[in-house]
Amino acid sequence: MSDRLFIFDTTLRDGEQVPGCQLNTVEKIQVAKQLEALGVDVIEAGFPISSPGDFNSVIEISKAVTWPTICALTRAVEKDIDVAAEALRFAKHKRIHTGIGTSDSHIRYKFNSNREEIIERAVAAVKYARRFVDDVEFYAEDAGRTENEYLARVVEAVIKAGATVVNIPDTTGYCLPYEYGAKIKYLMEHVDNIDKAILSTHCHNDLGMATANTIAGVLNGARQVEVTINGIGERAGNTSLEEVAMIIKCHNDIDIETNINTQKIYPASRMVSSLMNMPVQPNKAIVGRNAFAHSSGIHQDGVLKNVQTYEIIDPKDVGIDDNAIVLTARSGRAALKHRLHVLGVEMEQDKLDKVYEDFLKLADKKKDITDDDILVLAGADRADNHHIKLDYLQVTSGVGVRSVASLGLNISGEHFEAAASGNGPVDAAIKALKKIIDRQMTLKEFTIQAISKGSDDMGKVHMQVEYDGQMYYGFGANTDIIAASVEAYIDCINKFKR
Ligand code: KIV
Ligand code: ZN
Repeated sequence: MSDRLFIFDTTLRDGEQVPGCQLNTVEKIQVAKQLEALGVDVIEAGFPISSPGDFNSVIEISKAVTWPTICALTRAVEKDIDVAAEALRFAKHKRIHTGIGTSDSHIRYKFNSNREEIIERAVAAVKYARRFVDDVEFYAEDAGRTENEYLARVVEAVIKAGATVVNIPDTTGYCLPYEYGAKIKYLMEHVDNIDKAILSTHCHNDLGMATANTIAGVLNGARQVEVTINGIGERAGNTSLEEVAMIIKCHNDIDIETNINTQKIYPASRMVSSLMNMPVQPNKAIVGRNAFAHSSGIHQDGVLKNVQTYEIIDPKDVGIDDNAIVLTARSGRAALKHRLHVLGVEMEQDKLDKVYEDFLKLADKKKDITDDDILVLAGADRADNHHIKLDYLQVTSGVGVRSVASLGLNISGEHFEAAASGNGPVDAAIKALKKIIDRQMTLKEFTIQAISKGSDDMGKVHMQVEYDGQMYYGFGANTDIIAASVEAYIDCINKFKR
């Protein structure tokens, strides 16, 4: 029988740490349910002591999800562990994930400590966590740069103290695949009680090697992998779930199985990208827009003769179905509801009616409605509680003339209007906006997501605005790209801490 590889998803913890990707509790529950349908074994739901929002999300996800283990992160600190145990109280299967830095630089600069004391703190944290739960995972932060001999001592000590899983993070994404694989092999061979626990990989992608390192870890004995949907995560991200799942599925030479229902990969990817306002790069393996697009003549010729000439994955295996019903202005509520269900979004009748109304308006403007469009419409009510809303926008622009914009805002029920000229339509519109909202704010980043299907497509705008020393992230989506830009700016302003 094949070995089982456990999939530990940390989209809602390590993934959600990305600035601008924060989700509210309702959105996190949506993602958690999608992860459950996908078949992940463990959902890392948050870091409860870090904020009341994280604490609450762990509670609500524990109630909403049935069979995956719910995991909460802590430092090797008793108070953290108390709070995590409290947040996990409704989970059917629960795990506390505690740990401490083990590399010399962490020991010296972060903890001003020494190796022996770190082992003592690690052991104490695991023992303390075992008072609350039977399933305790220990992470040796920066294990990638921790000397193997010392790491083996830490691993042995925490297993003896009761750790059921030991996580070996390459926190900085520094390791080469052969090095990371050798590290796991070393631990498998030199830790006396290694048969009493599972070794886990946790690789970051700073040098683009997260997936390769993860697979090297698995080939050398790790039986849990820590991953995120679309590989999101701080800096260059974490190992991507879809890449690992498809490598294991495609490579019959790797005699290992996961519980992942790969046909749910694409809907999960779209949902996370949409809720977190985090575009997926077009050439991203497995889930990028171009992942299955053959454009060169030689490739197209080969694919037409036999698809296996250039395609190692059937797009249907990851949930991309080109024959899926196309939604148009003539589609009914049932078709929309079905598509939302396929994308993992369930909603009450009231909300469905509202989304359907918006869907018809959009379908009047553009021919085919994509999954992305539907997810944007489904999340549009995120702006409902904004105190500043765009009432109207009018822009004139052209070649050889200065652009002029006039706009109206509704601020907590009061109406304001302004007009301005600028170097282009977006510049003019934002200048008009700034005449009404008179604050020292600076646009730092402005990304327009590529239009994928046609000139009538919905444009998506991501913005970062600096205000009062803080960075705020905003998102706007509209068939009119100027309106999407203004909406993204207003989304930022609504988040200002007043
Ligand atoms: O990258 C890392 O080391 C982590 C740990 C907290 C598990 O995310
Ligand atoms: Zn990490």
